[in-house]
Amino acid sequence: MEYKNLQIDREEKIAIVTINRPQKLNALNRETIQELHQVFSVLESDNTIKVILLTGSGTKAFVAGADISEFADFNIAQGADLAKKGQTLLFDFIANLSTPVIAAVNGFALGGGLELAMACHFRVASDNAKMGLPEVSLGVIPGYGGTQRLPQLIGKGKAMELILTANMLTANEAKDCGLVNHVVPQEELLALCKKLATKISRNSSAAISSAIKAINANFDFDKNGFEVEIKQFGSCFGTKDFTEGTTAFLEKRKPNFK
Ligand code: COA
Repeated sequence: MEYKNLQIDREEKIAIVTINRPQKLNALNRETIQELHQVFSVLESDNTIKVILLTGSGTKAFVAGADISEFADFNIAQGADLAKKGQTLLFDFIANLSTPVIAAVNGFALGGGLELAMACHFRVASDNAKMGLPEVSLGVIPGYGGTQRLPQLIGKGKAMELILTANMLTANEAKDCGLVNHVVPQEELLALCKKLATKISRNSSAAISSAIKAINANFDFDKNGFEVEIKQFGSCFGTKDFTEGTTAFLEKRKPNFK
């Protein structure tokens, strides 16, 4: 399938999704959000893809935010609708995807760009990356989950400061507060992400999907995370991966998960 604003590459069991609007610093317009939804749906149902990497084209930006030119004249109802549709179609959709998604943050991740990175299962940044939620400087607040996911990741006080000041963090500052897991020179970013993805891809996809559900339940007020963990733990016992994983251990060999 062809995408106007995305480039998709596959390397063995890894898919690399690159947001490709470099002239607009990969800002998320409506069409790009739709395309991302579509490609993540397709990749999730592709059993040969075990991990997805998400990055931005060029060397300057991951994503410089939601496309401001698309909502500058919106009214109250349109604003609420924009946030709701975006959260449902893309941000919550990625967070709850059963295939793990790693954000390779290769430059500016601002506003909707940082929200997109935060919706991914974890983040790795290049040393030139700058991250922040500058929405209050535009007279609006983060609307794609940023007010919820940032405090979950870095704590309430730091999130308050970052959102209220509209300041940007450097990559190392983001690492120090747990927003990104690793910082590497830009030319090593994809290599490190692929290394992590390869490691993940050798584990059981069924167990990984259960782990994502159980971890996410910790942040869902409608769910009891411990109960979700019990259910997901039990469901693992009904999978072929569990039979293969435990048999391989007892036979002193590496498991071969499909
Ligand atoms: N929405 C729409 N267009 C955007 C954009 C966004 N969020 N971010 C950047 N662009 C566009 C610029 O308008 C410019 O387009 P033009 O060449 O047609 O004028 C192009 O991308 C390059 O950006 P520019 O501002 O010239 O680059 P810079 O190096 O001077 O500054 C940033 C880089 C990231 C600091 C700056 O682009 C910026 O502040 N962007 C908006 C960040 C933001 O507030 N995001 C939250 C949105 S809710």
